Amino acid sequence: METTSNNVEQTIKFAQNFAKMVKAPCVILLRGDLGAGKTHFVKGFVKGIKAKEQVTSPTFTIMNIYNSGKFPIYHFDLYRLTGDDEAEELGFYDYFDHKKLDGISLVEWPENAPQLVKEYDFEVEIKKLDDENKRLIIVRGKE
Ligand SMILES: Nc1ncnc2c1ncn2[C@@H]1O[C@H](COP(=O)(O)OP(=O)(O)O)[C@@H](O)[C@H]1O
Ligand SMILES: [Mg+2]
Repeated sequence: METTSNNVEQTIKFAQNFAKMVKAPCVILLRGDLGAGKTHFVKGFVKGIKAKEQVTSPTFTIMNIYNSGKFPIYHFDLYRLTGDDEAEELGFYDYFDHKKLDGISLVEWPENAPQLVKEYDFEVEIKKLDDENKRLIIVRGKE
């Protein structure tokens, strides 16, 4: 699945529609440079499952939980994580184990904990295009 987004609103709308097709348990990886739009994608996704919380980047807390929608959403930003060992120390593996996961884990910077995120369901890649507000969004299911 692939789309071009021309502005923030279109990214949010796309993520909102995508969320309606996804069921828990589910692990979704978000790839893309700083400022690509990963956190805005989560905003749309959270809206799509009808959760009411404000979505902010969990850069310092590493994980935010949004509990007011159809499923719990676990929003990770692993930008500051030092690796899989720290993920284990923080007890994150339960959120990536489909037998234990009761909601949907959405992960920014999954490359910082490759073992943690091995069993993902979808990978969303957001690429900045030449136009300042334009993005290519690619969604791939794990084969
Ligand atoms: N089409 C678009 N989709 C998403 N964000 C966009 C788009 N065009 C411009 N932006 C801007 O890009 C930035 C994306 O920020 P953010 O979602 O926090 O990125 P990331 O989490 O990938 O670092 C915001 O400042 C947003 O306003
Ligand atoms: Mg972000």
